[in-house]
Amino acid sequence: MRILITGGAGFIGSHIVETLIKHGHTPAVVDNLSSGNPKNIPAEIPLYELDICDSKKLEEAFHDFKPELVCHQAAQMSVSRSVREPAFDARVNIMGLINVLDQSVQNNVKKVVFASSGGVLYGDVFEPAKEDQPANPISPYGISKWAGEKYLEFYSKEHQLKTVALRYANVYGPRQNPHGEAGVVAIFCRNLLQSLPITVNGDGKYIRDYVHGSDVAEANRLALETDLPESFTTFNIGMGTPTDVNQLAEQVYQLCQTKARETGSDDSLPHPDHGPARAGDLRSNLVDASKAKSILGWNPRFELESGLAETVDWFAENAIQS
Ligand SMILES: NC(=O)c1ccc[n+]([C@@H]2O[C@H](COP(=O)([O-])OP(=O)(O)OC[C@H]3O[C@@H](n4cnc5c(N)ncnc54)[C@H](O)[C@@H]3O)[C@@H](O)[C@H]2O)c1
Repeated sequence: MRILITGGAGFIGSHIVETLIKHGHTPAVVDNLSSGNPKNIPAEIPLYELDICDSKKLEEAFHDFKPELVCHQAAQMSVSRSVREPAFDARVNIMGLINVLDQSVQNNVKKVVFASSGGVLYGDVFEPAKEDQPANPISPYGISKWAGEKYLEFYSKEHQLKTVALRYANVYGPRQNPHGEAGVVAIFCRNLLQSLPITVNGDGKYIRDYVHGSDVAEANRLALETDLPESFTTFNIGMGTPTDVNQLAEQVYQLCQTKARETGSDDSLPHPDHGPARAGDLRSNLVDASKAKSILGWNPRFELESGLAETVDWFAENAIQS
């Protein structure tokens, strides 16, 4: 099918492009390249370089490509920027989404799949949260993701547009941008592979649920392809496995240490250090993805250990991008 991926030149979007091609679909990408990179996608995939806030250009892209399905990944995704600039966050994450939904309705798109976030919706949870856990967003970014889901629900009722929100846990893997504030795995890999120190915030006892980007992409493909009875529905996408940042830092450290030995470079990497705690960091966040497993047949391939090994390999081979 013809599938338009907004934010397709970014980390998760580019994994989605990859899996859609593998499964015989025809993807195209909308991206303003604010954090994405055209090198993340094959050169033959149409790339409409535009801002989703520019409704005129977005309309032209929809008219040109004529998508049957839309996968909406483009977003302002910095929590701290959303706190500093809530209007910017709302412009991209709410107004931009509304533009995408409007174009989808006007161009008879059958379904829109939306990148939501379990992390910011559920807040501090010590057991894996299910989809019916009440939303408790505290940052403007969380509020805009939550509002985004409400808009999806509204458009599906008002315009018979099928919509699906996938609430991701903490996503990691090849092509993640190590320059943002999220993406702790990418930041650790980039630093350690250059023998630079890594800093764990506070005591590091911050539990997260790490899920590999290609598994998240697969969840998007299944959500796009599966004929769901509901006009709007949500799925958690995560492993439900608790890992704190100290454990994560140690695992990435060991893998990078091994890599340094293999390549014969400096094998005495600096040990992870502790810095000040980051204000507002959740102590624990985990999602329960049993609904996605039973309804979409989602079956993640990567446990953290194999996923981290693959990610370290990628960052070692693609040092130029990191
Ligand atoms: N990475 C995670 O752990 C995580 C967790 C929960 C939710 N999400 C959501 O997943 C989606 C993808 O995130 P990612 O990690 O791949 O980040 P990313 O920054 O790699 O990808 C976002 C892409 O959107 C593009 N973009 C940003 N603003 C745009 C705009 N105004 N117009 C057009 N394109 C724009 C960027 O250039 C980039 O290519 C986002 O919606 C994010 O909120 C990510």
